[in-house]
Amino acid sequence: MRVYLETFGCQMNELDSELVRGQLLSLGHEFVPHPDEAQVVLFNTCSVREHAEQKVYSRLGLAGVRKKQGEQLIVGVIGCMAERDGVDLFKRYPQVDLMCGPGELDRLPLLIDNAARADAADRSERVALAGNKSRRSATLQAAEDNLELLDLSRAFEPVANDAKSRSAYVRITRGCNKFCTYCVVPHTRGAEVHRPPSHIVDECKRLVDAGVLEITLLGQTINHYRYTHGTALTVDGHEAPQVGPGLAAFRKPPDPGARTTTFADLLHRIHEEVPALQRLRFVTSYPRDFGDDILQVMRDSPRICHYLHVPAQSGSDRMLKAMNRGYTVSEYLEFIDRVTTTLPDCTIGGDIIVGFCGETDEDFEQTCELVRRVPYKNNFIFKYSPRPGTVAFDRLADDVPDEVKRARNNALLALQNTVSARVHERWVGRTVPVFLEDIRERAAPTGPANGHVALSVAGRAPAAATLRIRQVIGRTPGDLIVALPAPENAETMLGTIQSARIIGSKPLLLDGVFPTI
Ligand code: 5AD
Ligand code: SF4
Repeated sequence: MRVYLETFGCQMNELDSELVRGQLLSLGHEFVPHPDEAQVVLFNTCSVREHAEQKVYSRLGLAGVRKKQGEQLIVGVIGCMAERDGVDLFKRYPQVDLMCGPGELDRLPLLIDNAARADAADRSERVALAGNKSRRSATLQAAEDNLELLDLSRAFEPVANDAKSRSAYVRITRGCNKFCTYCVVPHTRGAEVHRPPSHIVDECKRLVDAGVLEITLLGQTINHYRYTHGTALTVDGHEAPQVGPGLAAFRKPPDPGARTTTFADLLHRIHEEVPALQRLRFVTSYPRDFGDDILQVMRDSPRICHYLHVPAQSGSDRMLKAMNRGYTVSEYLEFIDRVTTTLPDCTIGGDIIVGFCGETDEDFEQTCELVRRVPYKNNFIFKYSPRPGTVAFDRLADDVPDEVKRARNNALLALQNTVSARVHERWVGRTVPVFLEDIRERAAPTGPANGHVALSVAGRAPAAATLRIRQVIGRTPGDLIVALPAPENAETMLGTIQSARIIGSKPLLLDGVFPTI
């Protein structure tokens, strides 16, 4: 069948979509770029903030109109929103034919088949949710084993010679056990489960053999990765995914009798066993239990990027407690100090929620103080949005008015901009490797600058408004964006790593030139 798949939300979702795509292609389905051409329309959804859900509702509205007009169309909602909304969504949106949670995606082909014979299949055969009775197995372990097969069945054909294909995600942990009070992820993606290191290393090797240059390891709290060997085996004796050990495991030294792969061990293994991998990075780090062993492996392994995405969420201890984050501001700062001491050139990004339940002006000021203190290259700033099913939704009043949330959001963005500008400035004068990803053409506001090539539209005199510059855009190992004047053969450079000399900076961008051109 012809399938259209649209993805919302995080990197985890992007990876899920890639795996779903591979799985459906291998079964003979084909993918089309526009929903109008499709027989099956799938939305891989995100539930983390309300805004992401609104977009899906509007897509479902459009699909509903098509079905009302008599089109034969299968509409599927997959991912976190399906899991969170459950069968309610079916009731409110009768145009939805199937629903599949993120922990059940291996069952998607079956659900599509069932929906194709909709009259024959009753609704329960078109729903696969972890919280639903139709779950195929009573045990988390068996469900995980099946889900692991989805990751293992990833297609490893030689990748196209473009930047997107040369950069890949590899999951190391599914789910999350932290239960931050605002967050829906532990409810939609379930308990933290770690993949066996051999599966992860093998997946990295096969991706690199297929032409991938850059791998980003994914986990909700990636530094909590820990795999104890010999405890979880499949029926045929292979290592199986394993439920996380819990926070207590990080409070005491590892059991001397146990053979354990820590996150530091895993990074080291991938770096050593996949020597052709050019860049290894990982998201998202949790500010607690991030040992010096990880920092040392990063320092000693030249192809591991010195970049951390490590959300603080707030700079107020009172808010951190209400959020159940499990650390204080001074513990967060102690961690940042360890990072900058061991890895002076490490770039740091984060996430911050403003307007969480009970946040006062003083709490917010403490968050501003944190942003002034930490050399963040960027922060994603979110207005708190209450999510049904979470502790905050049930027990804490969403009492910060929306206009206050908006004002704090804007003030923090402005402050972050000044911090980002300072961080970017430090790179001017250095030469850095840049992974080239994209070409863009844009208006040159004040004529040619910094050696950029100015083009005039259709040979007309280059009046200020018509002046265009063509730039190639890339990323440093620290995930800073670099814009360089595009040489004629720029297209052929996409998906390669080149040296760039940094000659200028803006709050969110470095200006560079190719030293040899
Ligand atoms: N409201 C606002 N932001 C949220 N995030 C997670 N849940 C919520 C929520 N209910 C943000 C956090 C997290 C990022 C992925 O999304 O900052 O790190
Ligand atoms: Fe959500 Fe907290 Fe888990 Fe991150 S650590 S996914 S914010 S519960």
